[in-house]
Amino acid sequence: MTSRFTAKRVLLTGGASGIGRACAERFAAEGARIAIGDVDLAGAQAVAATLDGAAFAYDARDPAAAARLAADAVDALGGIDVLLNVAGIMAWGRFEETTPETWQRTLDINLSGPFYLIQAAIPHLKESKGNVVSVASAGGLHPVYGTAAYGVSKAGIIAVTQAASLEYARFGVRINAVAPGGVDTPMHEKSAAGGGVDPAIFAEAAGRNMPKLTDRQACTPEEIAAAIAYLASDEARFVTGTTLVIDGGQITG
Ligand SMILES: NC(=O)c1ccc[n+]([C@@H]2O[C@H](COP(=O)([O-])OP(=O)(O)OC[C@H]3O[C@@H](n4cnc5c(N)ncnc54)[C@H](O)[C@@H]3O)[C@@H](O)[C@H]2O)c1
Repeated sequence: MTSRFTAKRVLLTGGASGIGRACAERFAAEGARIAIGDVDLAGAQAVAATLDGAAFAYDARDPAAAARLAADAVDALGGIDVLLNVAGIMAWGRFEETTPETWQRTLDINLSGPFYLIQAAIPHLKESKGNVVSVASAGGLHPVYGTAAYGVSKAGIIAVTQAASLEYARFGVRINAVAPGGVDTPMHEKSAAGGGVDPAIFAEAAGRNMPKLTDRQACTPEEIAAAIAYLASDEARFVTGTTLVIDGGQITG
């Protein structure tokens, strides 16, 4: 294992589970000090405890929570070198059946949450000449059948990444994203199990552009964490405004 993040201060959301947890472990293994914000505080504390990190209650639906989390991270770590927006939810549902509640909740958590957190972290990132990596989705570049609200939220975070990168390159702050396809995490398990939506939607989607959902050959969270670590490291010194697709060919299929 390389040590690209020795003494770097990393704030990440969604660290209690899946890709966020894999990121916390990967960055800590490469020397980083970690602060996790998650709505699942107990889960975040359990992960942080194994990494000598800090954990804070953070609900991405609450705009005021972003400023609190950034301040908590700065108190705990002394600054922020890397912000990773990983927290998110999946929402299945046919286009015309997507309720205002699902639409709003999905946009609040997956799009507005990262937007406000980037805003809150920017003054600290300007100081550290740091960077941001947000977890979008292949579904934000090419919609996945039956997930319109999710796809729009992830297209939005790609646009946020591009917009912010334009404004902050001159301050030496890089802003990037990754776009995974299906990744083997609790989110993926919940989706495959139905998650309370009409299971017929999975049969409709199968054979279209979610093959990974049924053949169980999904990518691992560690593989996504490795790509995120590259973007957050000095090896990607000249990379900003990009969205790195890691989907095994899903959106080209
Ligand atoms: N798993 C996949 O197939 C896949 C594919 C593409 C993109 N993604 C994206 O990767 C990210 C991580 O997903 P995952 O698969 O690890 O899912 P996961 O369900 O394992 O983890 C999601 C984490 O986000 C946290 N979270 C949920 N709602 C929150 C809120 N309101 N405020 C703060 N934290 C909240 C959860 O507590 C959990 O720790 C998400 O943004 C997701 O959209 C996942």
